[in-house]
Amino acid sequence: MCGIVGYIGKQKALPVLIDGIKSLEYRGYDSAGFAVSTAGGVVKSKKAVGRVSNLELKIEEKDIRHGNAGICHTRWATHGGVTEENAHPHSDCKGELWLCHNGIIENYKDFKSDLARRGHTFKSETDSEVLAHLIEEFKTQDPALATEEAVRLALLSVRGTYGLALLDSKNPGTLIAARNFSPLLIGVGDGEYIIASDASAVLKHTKNVVYLDDGEMAVLTPKSHKIFDLKRNTINRKSEELTWDIEEAQKGGNPHFMLKEILEEPEAIENSIRGRIVAKEGLIKLGGILAVEEKLRNAKRILIAGCGTAYLAGKVGEYMLEEYGGIPVKIELASEFRYRKPIFREGDVMLVVSQSGETADTLAALAEAKQKGVLSLGIVNVVGSTIARQTDAGVYQHVGPEIGVASTKAFTSQVAILALLSVMLGRQRDMSVVMARRITEELSRIPELMKKIIKQSEAIKKLAKKYQPYRDFLFLGRKYNYPVALEGALKLKEISYVHAEGFSAGEMKHGPIAMIDKSFPSICIAPSDSVYEKMVSNMEEIKARSGPIIVIATEGNKKIEEITKDVIYIPKTLEMLTPLLAVVPLQLFAYHFGVLRGLDVDKPRNLAKSVTVE
Ligand code: AGP
Ligand code: GLU
Repeated sequence: MCGIVGYIGKQKALPVLIDGIKSLEYRGYDSAGFAVSTAGGVVKSKKAVGRVSNLELKIEEKDIRHGNAGICHTRWATHGGVTEENAHPHSDCKGELWLCHNGIIENYKDFKSDLARRGHTFKSETDSEVLAHLIEEFKTQDPALATEEAVRLALLSVRGTYGLALLDSKNPGTLIAARNFSPLLIGVGDGEYIIASDASAVLKHTKNVVYLDDGEMAVLTPKSHKIFDLKRNTINRKSEELTWDIEEAQKGGNPHFMLKEILEEPEAIENSIRGRIVAKEGLIKLGGILAVEEKLRNAKRILIAGCGTAYLAGKVGEYMLEEYGGIPVKIELASEFRYRKPIFREGDVMLVVSQSGETADTLAALAEAKQKGVLSLGIVNVVGSTIARQTDAGVYQHVGPEIGVASTKAFTSQVAILALLSVMLGRQRDMSVVMARRITEELSRIPELMKKIIKQSEAIKKLAKKYQPYRDFLFLGRKYNYPVALEGALKLKEISYVHAEGFSAGEMKHGPIAMIDKSFPSICIAPSDSVYEKMVSNMEEIKARSGPIIVIATEGNKKIEEITKDVIYIPKTLEMLTPLLAVVPLQLFAYHFGVLRGLDVDKPRNLAKSVTVE
């Protein structure tokens, strides 16, 4: 989620690091820092809160003359507030081992207390710093141990995700890198190497890169590199030649951030649920709300508020929490809630959902609840954002920065977290272990299932092409997929500027059906679930009025092709989790539709990523 750059070679490290890290700023940042080797065998480090330019202000002439090895980081906080102390690089007690980490060390707390007992002192609240001390501890226990070996042992001990760059002041001729589920690659130059989170940071220096795979480490000297896995098997991997320019590299080779973020959805769901499911007992562990767990047990009602896509994720949550969490839920548009006279009752909990954590209307709704003394929770992506700070407790999404204005991976992540919350509340009430396991096992399968849908992107593009002449669309769904119909319509509107309306399919006959004719297509979400037959009846009604139909159906349902040939199939899953799959083709449809219209899908007109005004 953050940016890492490491350098070792013939040049002075710092200018290369700063230049490289600037091209990674798009990945999100809240603070930055570097550590470079010096001729004196010590490592010098500086950090600053805010943009890389703030860090640059701290750089003095003498810093630039330091050594030829170094590491640099832009942080996107997950553990610990946005402070200089929490900015990376982090070091061990002696200031010898310095590391930059991207990702989350899930079991850092287990190690932190143990290491503290052994005399380690921690300077930050981050999970990352624990790694530095753990490596130090391995070296203390066996002083003959090479640093790379201590790193390997530490990585074998921890659970979580990491992109890692490590500098050892005692051995400044070597840099160590490692990767597990967080991106990391190595640029191979002439007498130099650059480690980076993505290719945009190396392109100015070399087009040759070696990608690290999950569970692999690399040891680099200016002239050589070796790659091996955590079992110490050597890996011989050839370098690849990049053909991207810097902008393409930032988008991971995709033409737009929106597409990149849709493709990232499987990984985003993994990141949102990782470490939060205790499979055996069918329990959910949400660190951020642990402190209010007892209050949630006694909660009598949940009020959910959000705007736009976040509101719609909340609406899926309303269905889930009532059916599985066993608690009454009321979903509110934050922009309305703030001006109504909401009636709070004892035992109410306010849950606000927001990717940015800065949306003005959502903040106002939150303020209203807080003013009335209601317990407030947040589902937020941006760590340290205003909503994250102002809620009593909350769950971070951990999906990395969402840059495209249209929310995609943030939506599915919010729905996944709401599913976790439903199981958590359900288990506090009357949900059985068996049911909890069934839901969490299925939720863990969602990333794989999503990948199958993403593979159909070209077929969805063809549909978007076929439907280009139309300027009005109706999106229909029922129950769990009613909010998805609303989201599909919102996506198409904001990306393509065509008229799209979302309706509950049951409402169609109460008005919208009057619009149906051959010039008004409907996109129907009709997976094989408890309301499938009802959806079929609605589609028949549309067909009888010559309305073109695109349908999202469950794999294997060939019968649906009797109604329309324009079918997008999604894999079978639990009814409550179908929104996680059904929304993906709608996001892809909107994306391709907008691109085919020649529009700037990443920055649709009149919109902003974060709406901080009323
Ligand atoms: C989604 O595609 C929109 N751009 C918009 O509706 C967005 O979801 C809304 O403004 C809420 O933003 P937030 O999640 O940052 O609070
Ligand atoms: N978990 C680490 C932290 O909060 C790294 C976050 C990142 O990837 O930037 O500092």
